[in-house]
Amino acid sequence: MTIRKPRVLATRHFPPDVETRLTASFDAVLNPEDRLYDGPALVAASAGCDGIMCAAGDALTAATIASLPASVRIIATFSVGYEHVDVAAAAKRNIAVSNTPDVLTDATADITLLCLLGAARRAHEGTTMLRTHNWVGWTPTQLTGVHVTGKRLGILGMGRIGQAVADRARAFRMQIHYSNRSRLPADLEKGATFHANADDMLPYCDFLSINAPMTPATRKWVNAERLAKLPKGAVVVNTARGGVVDDEALIAALRSGRIASAGLDVFDGEPKIHQGYYDLENAFLLPHMGSATVETRNAMGFKALDNLEAFLLRGQAPPDVVKAS
Ligand code: 8YV
Repeated sequence: MTIRKPRVLATRHFPPDVETRLTASFDAVLNPEDRLYDGPALVAASAGCDGIMCAAGDALTAATIASLPASVRIIATFSVGYEHVDVAAAAKRNIAVSNTPDVLTDATADITLLCLLGAARRAHEGTTMLRTHNWVGWTPTQLTGVHVTGKRLGILGMGRIGQAVADRARAFRMQIHYSNRSRLPADLEKGATFHANADDMLPYCDFLSINAPMTPATRKWVNAERLAKLPKGAVVVNTARGGVVDDEALIAALRSGRIASAGLDVFDGEPKIHQGYYDLENAFLLPHMGSATVETRNAMGFKALDNLEAFLLRGQAPPDVVKAS
């Protein structure tokens, strides 16, 4: 008697080593062309599937989840953020949801420092000047930016990634301020200043780094009123989710110079980003590359597979199960 392998839909073309293991463990339905599925296409592709391995670009809304075939029992997202999966709707259908915490902490913290330094030191203007053959040579006043060493860094969201950003920033002798749902124990806080109310932290932020998840409470949290509370000439960095920032407000503050510069890896509605950002010289922009190292993307895939295999092959709870908050 042959035992049927559980069938798993891979909504995206995942790294080769991840797809090799996916194919060995499961009857895998792959997406070699990496076509982004809309809701109906995702539902159609899930026919006969026991699990779905998805990514942040997939919108697993309540309506899509309600239409999934009854065979689907787990959604494993290849991401730490899971705002694109309606976890409550999945729970209603008894579908487990898992994510990939820990493995992308370092890569995302690294890119946060790249954004911070790129924005402060006018990297976009420098590379553009060079690549457009407009560099006439060194001058004493050319492309002078914002000094980083010794400045105050406010971190909104001091989870794993926020803490890893703080560790890196300490190497620049930055003074760390943070706001988080709860205060960290002293061994994790490492001398950083806690602000129970995030608004109260803003006047101390020469640099503001957003490392909080996207939730109804953080949606457009960085708005005009809060930007006005930052010191004049502050730098804003976002490597979490674009939706945490009110784009109109940030663009206006960057245009006026009230905010010196921004380093952004994530955007509301990405990949269609607000046109205003393209027009700004003082915006250092990256196309959501936070976790984009070979090692990290493999580790994310393997973690998603650990969850699928535990649940579908061994009948265990997924180790990284997430619950509706
Ligand atoms: C991922 C991310 O690469 O894991 C996350 O939450 O933001 C990224 O770095 C992306 O979401 C892939 O699904």
